[in-house]
Amino acid sequence: MATKLPPLRVSRKFEKNEWHPLSWNDREVNQLPTYPDNNELQQVYDQLRTLPPLTTSWEVLALKKKLAEVAEGNAILLQGGDCAETFDACNAPKIVNQLKVMLQMSFILIHETGIPVVRVGRVAGQYAKPRSSEFEVVEGREILNYRGDLINSYEPTPEARRPDPQRMVTAYNKAALTLNFLRALAEEGFADLHHPEQWELDFMKNNRYYKEYEQMVLSINKAVNFMESVTPGPLQTSQKVDLYTSHEALNLYYESAQTRRVPRKEGWFNLSGHMVWLGNRTRSLENAHVEYLRGIQNPIGIKVGPPFDRDEVLELIRRLNPRHEAGKIVLITRFGVKEVERELPGFIRAVNREGFPVVWSCDPMHGNTFSTRRKVKTRNFDDILEELKTTFEIHRAEANYLGGVHLELTGDNVTECVGGANGLNEEGLTRNYETYCDPRLNYEQSLEMAFLVAKEWNEGYRR
Ligand code: PEP
Ligand code: CO
Repeated sequence: MATKLPPLRVSRKFEKNEWHPLSWNDREVNQLPTYPDNNELQQVYDQLRTLPPLTTSWEVLALKKKLAEVAEGNAILLQGGDCAETFDACNAPKIVNQLKVMLQMSFILIHETGIPVVRVGRVAGQYAKPRSSEFEVVEGREILNYRGDLINSYEPTPEARRPDPQRMVTAYNKAALTLNFLRALAEEGFADLHHPEQWELDFMKNNRYYKEYEQMVLSINKAVNFMESVTPGPLQTSQKVDLYTSHEALNLYYESAQTRRVPRKEGWFNLSGHMVWLGNRTRSLENAHVEYLRGIQNPIGIKVGPPFDRDEVLELIRRLNPRHEAGKIVLITRFGVKEVERELPGFIRAVNREGFPVVWSCDPMHGNTFSTRRKVKTRNFDDILEELKTTFEIHRAEANYLGGVHLELTGDNVTECVGGANGLNEEGLTRNYETYCDPRLNYEQSLEMAFLVAKEWNEGYRR
């Protein structure tokens, strides 16, 4: 249900109908609760507005350039991470594991396909969640639903579930700590190809892709040794690797307070991350989220799934990218295994007819969630794979380039999705079920998925 929110103070006068970071404030908004105290909200907003940016405009523009390469068919986009990051999970092992799984997946993709991979984490800001119901019933009483640590607390009491604006400052701090550590790890050493022991071969031992995985590690080692024997000195394989950050632009106060102008560049940048996306539940054309997103320079993901009106999405792309800038829009389709065949082909044709230069990405997770008899939210690896394969087939049939995948995954050994080569079943789900929101692929399932993505990509696009 859409609501109107009380207005915040705008820092200076803007023309009527001119876009500014708070021009969304008088629109109807979905999925953003009213904070109980507007003065407190204003204070937090003003505080957040003065804090230094988490990212820079040149990083944002560099990502846009790389995404333009994906749109052209010259690179692959790998976007992945938690469904919802939590404040408690802002610690070294979790961050290391997240970076590691993304790197290893990207190495698999690069090795198997031979083209560059753009890594974008759902990380350092993915703290707010849209929910299908406003309330939930806990022990017989109805309380507000959990909307992610950026908005309220998971603890099931009415007090803890009240939206608290101070959480935005905490989120900013946690995002800064996460990003600081990620940057340090990425800067040097972490991706060092001299140390195959970091590749965790043992962990993959029982997997059907073990042989391919082992083969790949051996071949990378051989390549490093070869390069070192023909060039003087050790190969600089330990240099900086890129991991860009992304999150859903859901809490518009948080996004808007971090939307800035920078010297010598045109327009406004959301510097809370590199890329943001518009969720499937907040993409009504006239509402607040679309109004906000039309004014920023960042690459924007658009989740497209049921219920969906093709013409409305075309209009959305027009509004968010009126100048047809390449690398600006990533269409993340998430129709679910049952609907993808019906909806996707016509959608691809319509987008191409308009000549929109988009990156096509497949999110095979969000259309395939279900609850077990014991009410555990899960996804089946086979459904995920099936939607991915069907999506690749459809793009191939339309002579179109599917350049991206969008996955919910973790580098930890959780038990949240059933299936995969190791055949986790419903009974096994409770062993290590950690997510507060949607079920993620675990470490092994993620690496397996990377091989499967590479296989599908090669079917259609191998050079
Ligand atoms: C998500 O990506 O976590 C999400 C909520 O997705 P969607 O908007 O596609 O439902
Ligand atoms: Co999710």
